[in-house]
Amino acid sequence: MRDLSRANGRFLATVVRYLCDAGIRQFLDIGTGLPAPDNTHEVAQRAARDAARIVYVDYDPIVLAHARALLTSGEAGATEYIDSDLRDTQTILGATAKLLDFTKPMAVTLISILHAIPDGDDPHAIVVRLLGAVPSGSYLAISHMGPSCGARSAANPNVTGHPAPEHRRPTRRGAGTGVVPRRTR
Ligand SMILES: C[S@@+](CC[C@H](N)C(=O)[O-])C[C@H]1O[C@@H](n2cnc3c(N)ncnc32)[C@H](O)[C@@H]1O
Repeated sequence: MRDLSRANGRFLATVVRYLCDAGIRQFLDIGTGLPAPDNTHEVAQRAARDAARIVYVDYDPIVLAHARALLTSGEAGATEYIDSDLRDTQTILGATAKLLDFTKPMAVTLISILHAIPDGDDPHAIVVRLLGAVPSGSYLAISHMGPSCGARSAANPNVTGHPAPEHRRPTRRGAGTGVVPRRTR
């Protein structure tokens, strides 16, 4: 589990640096998690010389209790925290519009969260709603646990506190969303 978490953290940092290099200065980070080294705003503000704006979203009261650590920023940037469920995209998008400019491209990051949304809540539709709100030129970054992420979590659905990732069936419904896959390196 610790290896998974470290690999995920490295992936997030790589993605954020890549997006800053691509000119992105606005991030909507949903499924924030507890503050850790190299949170999204720290990586982005280092890479973009402070001029990055980040909105964090999570629904966990423990994350909320630590959110102050995420609300630091250089003068040219800004960070905000929204206490909301990913499934409530209307609330998220409404609150995000107070800090991020929806006329300019942004990155939506769903790092290690979508496996917590059961098929019955239609994660595909959630992603489509988010992408429908952001302007052309925006980016979507996803990391998603799968069956190869460790026998322990497969055997024990409570290891992650969420349903086992195996509940997600492979799907190609992403086709037709306009998303163009890119490699970060
Ligand atoms: C495994 S952690 C990932 C944290 C961080 N993105 C990372 O990569 O280190 C998943 C986070 O998503 C949050 N989460 C799970 N389901 C959620 C939902 N429906 N709405 C909002 N946050 C959710 C959890 O509270 C948790 O903080």
